[in-house]
Amino acid sequence: MPRPAKVAKPQVAVKAAKADDLEIFLVATPGLELPLWEEAKALHFKNAKVVPGGVTLRGGWQEVWRANLEIRGAGRVLARIGEFRAMHLAQLDKRARKFPWGDFLKADVPVRVEATCKASRIYHSGAAAQRFKTAIREELGASIADDAKVVVKVRIEDDLCTISIDTSGESLHKRGHKQEIGKAPMRETMAALFLRLCGFTGAEPVVDPMCGSGTFVIEAAEIAMGLKPGRSREFAFEYLKSFDAKAWQQMRAARPIVKPSVRFFGSDHDAGAVRMSKANAERAGVADFTAFQQLAISEVAPPEGPPGLVVVNPPYGARIGDRKPLTDLHAALGDMLLARFSGWRVGLITSDAALAKATGLPFLQPSAPIAHGGLSVQLFQTGKLK
Ligand SMILES: C[S@@+](CC[C@H](N)C(=O)[O-])C[C@H]1O[C@@H](n2cnc3c(N)ncnc32)[C@H](O)[C@@H]1O
Repeated sequence: MPRPAKVAKPQVAVKAAKADDLEIFLVATPGLELPLWEEAKALHFKNAKVVPGGVTLRGGWQEVWRANLEIRGAGRVLARIGEFRAMHLAQLDKRARKFPWGDFLKADVPVRVEATCKASRIYHSGAAAQRFKTAIREELGASIADDAKVVVKVRIEDDLCTISIDTSGESLHKRGHKQEIGKAPMRETMAALFLRLCGFTGAEPVVDPMCGSGTFVIEAAEIAMGLKPGRSREFAFEYLKSFDAKAWQQMRAARPIVKPSVRFFGSDHDAGAVRMSKANAERAGVADFTAFQQLAISEVAPPEGPPGLVVVNPPYGARIGDRKPLTDLHAALGDMLLARFSGWRVGLITSDAALAKATGLPFLQPSAPIAHGGLSVQLFQTGKLK
């Protein structure tokens, strides 16, 4: 008897992710992938893996919301919603039209589309984005707008189109409390991960003697109080098909605030910076556990109580001011800390290793370079000062 011919399995050309098993991508500041991974693991996210540019997790939409709400160190959270191969634009057009957009997007919510191409036969990102826009507009019925709250990001690499939704919206360093910023502010996301790299867990006091808009001090107080970083802001995922307002309210509901056993201190020689820090701390709900004072470096002294962590991001040449006064300022900072902060650890962030050296502080091996505002900075840490 002739054997029945093998029926080839039809190839699924367009793959859409399952709502309960998405690949979730946390965008990291280059150089801070590892502490971000550590944070994700500490928050019990599953399958956290370090990959170039960030950390991947797996989970459903509730994990996407929780990542946005609870992770301090991610710049944004992307949800991978599907993929397909496309060798040329006509194929991309056909497959983009087949994609089940309605499973993820809402027809009455405008969408923006961004596309990038790398090592692919389709090399014109504008033309690729155009095909996706047309597919979403004509197949789903959603309008396309440059200022849309929902952004679909398409990456075409080695002829594979990966489709993600940016579930955060505004960058996650915007916690929604800091309306006033100084000359060279540190992003909240970076500040939180620098605190983590310094071993801060919320149980020791923190002093920032050049606090600017108060970023380190406010992040430290929030960590100690167990506040969720995204508690006050809106997210793009609230405009997606999967959003459930009631479940989100439950997730976001404030946990009982932990009353920290220690306090968090900032000072700056600039009166405006101190005023800003106080207003930002007030808005963040940490004013009761923080204190800000107008002080020059030479006037700073440790608060009463146990030693803890000094974390500081002094001005550096490429951003503000010029060199000789900066060297003197760093020397004055080091002298003050060595004279008065016995038993404290120091974490100093600078783009200029020579300025770190000018402090005279006994720094250990500095961190790898980390991108910050067009520059590359490093974290210099000491052990407990003698
Ligand atoms: C790079 S900014 C710090 C930014 C801060 N980390 C933030 O997130 O906003 C450096 C700060 O050092 C302060 N500063 C400069 N010279 C100082 C001095 N001699 N004493 C105290 N503060 C000083 C500046 O006013 C400025 O706010």
